[in-house]
Amino acid sequence: METVLLSDSIRQLEAAAQLIKDGEVVGIPTETVYGLGADASNEAAVRKIFAAKGRPADNPLIVHLADFSDAVSYTKNIPALAYKLAEKFCPGPFTMILPKNERIPYVTSGGLETVGIRIPSHPVMHRIIELSGCPIAAPSANISGYPSPTSAQHVMDDMMGKIAAVVDGGQSEFGVESTVAAIENENTVRILRPGCVTAEQLREICENVIIDKAILNDIGSDEKVPSPGMKYKHYSPKADIVLVESSFDDFVRYVGANDGEKVYSLIFDGDAERFPYKFLAYGDNDLAQAHNVFQKLRELDEIGAEKVYVRAPSSEGVGLAVYNRLIRAAGFEVIRI
Ligand code: TXA
Ligand code: MG
Repeated sequence: METVLLSDSIRQLEAAAQLIKDGEVVGIPTETVYGLGADASNEAAVRKIFAAKGRPADNPLIVHLADFSDAVSYTKNIPALAYKLAEKFCPGPFTMILPKNERIPYVTSGGLETVGIRIPSHPVMHRIIELSGCPIAAPSANISGYPSPTSAQHVMDDMMGKIAAVVDGGQSEFGVESTVAAIENENTVRILRPGCVTAEQLREICENVIIDKAILNDIGSDEKVPSPGMKYKHYSPKADIVLVESSFDDFVRYVGANDGEKVYSLIFDGDAERFPYKFLAYGDNDLAQAHNVFQKLRELDEIGAEKVYVRAPSSEGVGLAVYNRLIRAAGFEVIRI
């Protein structure tokens, strides 16, 4: 199949929306990462998403809507807390797990009785949802297990020949996927995946905010997890990633003792002038690091890195999302000095 690269002109967005109505899969920009979008209510179209990504059938897809008021059409028994959260965080990088109704097929929900609902703020994505008139199921547009795409080029790199089109909506603003939250009762939410809506922000609306233990810990494959995505290897480039938690000086010594031809480090921008080995830098604060992290993991593959030592980010605020992606990219291999 030929994969067409579309611009964000209204004509081309109409073409993208028509492809989605016709049951095709289209790479679409959002403010978090690029997604692989298809009509969430069309089982055959949703199966094409799973096939293009090589994604396990039990890993559910998030459904994207133009406005939270549309959620009543695809879910049931929406708790009052969901409306409060939506008022504050929708549209934006935030996904709520709600009980699904019969309009969301089990293919989309990975066999679950719930569905993740997200209202993206990216104007191009918003337009595509409106023009298609469909609820749009969209996982991140990477090959399963690989770092998520934050540009149309990344999507072309992974999906060329496998999907109908990719819409270029520029570089993704946040760079990591949405915060996924399950509502446990009227004053408790559980964060299943951290993102740019932080635990601290959620606490302003909701009394109890639980950070699920799978966010920072390796969960045994036979343990029951609240989100199927937690079981799978994630975000890994070809290079072997090792997360190093240490001071800058200890980091330099550690890399020095383990340096080699295809060894690289991923460090903070402020370290760059004093760092004597091969490196890429991924930012100096949590938002910059979120914006850059997947892009840099992909670049490390392009330059032929085989082993990468990563200076661990802070795990506060948006840092928790960056830390979560990196510890998973590292397969939970962490060196603490
Ligand atoms: O920012 C994002 O959320 C991007 C953009 C494209 O919107 N989408 C995205 O989708 O990251 P995906 O499929 O790559 O990740 C969705 C995660 C998976 O880990 C999945 O297991 C979890 O959310 N998830 C989806 N529906 C769920 C449900 N009903 N219950 C529990 N976890 C769910
Ligand atoms: Mg993903």
